[in-house]
Amino acid sequence: MTPPLVLDIRDLAVEFRQGRKTPPLRAVDGVSLSIREGETVGLVGESGSGKSTIGRAVLGLNPIHSGRVHFEGTDITHAARATRRGLADRLQVVFQDPYSSLNPARTIGRTLAEPLVAQRRSDRAAIAERVATMLERVGMPADTADRYPGQFSGGQRQRIAIARALMISPRLVICDEPVSALDLSIQAQVMNLLGDLQREFALSYLFIAHDLPVVRHLSHRIIVLYRGRVMESGTADEVYSDPVHPYTQTLLAAVPVPDPRAQRARRQRRVAAEPARPPSAAGCVFAHRCAHAVDICHIVRPEPLPLPGPSGTHTAACHRSAELHPHPVAVNPSAKQHPVPTGHHVREGSSCEDSE
Ligand SMILES: Nc1ncnc2c1ncn2[C@@H]1O[C@H](COP(=O)(O)OP(=O)(O)O)[C@@H](O)[C@H]1O
Ligand code: SF4
Ligand SMILES: [Mg+2]
Repeated sequence: MTPPLVLDIRDLAVEFRQGRKTPPLRAVDGVSLSIREGETVGLVGESGSGKSTIGRAVLGLNPIHSGRVHFEGTDITHAARATRRGLADRLQVVFQDPYSSLNPARTIGRTLAEPLVAQRRSDRAAIAERVATMLERVGMPADTADRYPGQFSGGQRQRIAIARALMISPRLVICDEPVSALDLSIQAQVMNLLGDLQREFALSYLFIAHDLPVVRHLSHRIIVLYRGRVMESGTADEVYSDPVHPYTQTLLAAVPVPDPRAQRARRQRRVAAEPARPPSAAGCVFAHRCAHAVDICHIVRPEPLPLPGPSGTHTAACHRSAELHPHPVAVNPSAKQHPVPTGHHVREGSSCEDSE
């Protein structure tokens, strides 16, 4: 049985005003994505591609220009503040910066208790017990509740931020670059924790990152974003092992690899793809950087087209996808079905990138 949809975003556009004489900036332009129960969808792209804007639009923190957002079947596109407050039980967020996301003047215990106190459904003893349980679950020592954020490292604070997000058993957690500010070895620990918690609580994640290898480990499906548009989407294996869109290939070329010669070759490919001229409003937003661009790319906007492959969900928004992807490589057929939690842990003490 297919698990129910938790989040469904259709044709989302978000614009920001830039002053009276300049047209608004379209930070998100026609993005559709859906997340099922127990599923992780990785949203990946360079800085400024609109990832956080999508997360913030779902949370009601960015105004939605057009399109629709449904959460657990309810249209929350323009939900009023009271409706949003009601959603807090089921929709939570973990931000990138564990330093600024915890109030430095409050004990960890008080910060974690806040959502339960706001609900007024539990007594003090029950709240204290829940705080202790969640802290223990994320691997923090028992006395953490009495201490302040300043007494913890970045990785420990991110564990605490995760505990806070899970205090009231949400269905969906938006993880906005939760490990980007952490050392590589700590990243692996936090990613493993997120994976374990997902299996334990049947959580769904919208997992945002700028690095493909980071999202790959946790994600069932990956969506690649560039300048507010979806460039490629598919199962994690398809997008990572068989990238079709020239932008996805550029993103992968930016990932450090252990072999210096391979790294040099990748870097050269990336330099070749650097901007030659600014993007035009019409056509493919990646055309000014694309080594494969032809005339039509500058004139007609490419829409996501299905690609052959085992999952039937692999798409690329590229006029030349059929030429660039004539013979799909065999990817893990188990990736076809959802949910298939990746299940494997990132080796701790190693980076997410070199653990395979
Ligand atoms: N509140 C805002 N006001 C104006 N522009 C914004 C605002 N938030 C984001 N942007 C712009 O929208 C684009 C996408 O930003 P963002 O979603 O933060 O990208 P990402 O998370 O992928 O790095 C960027 O050009 C950014 O400058
Ligand atoms: S549509 Fe054209 S410019 Fe855009 S990625 Fe494909 S080949 Fe490159
Ligand atoms: Mg961001």
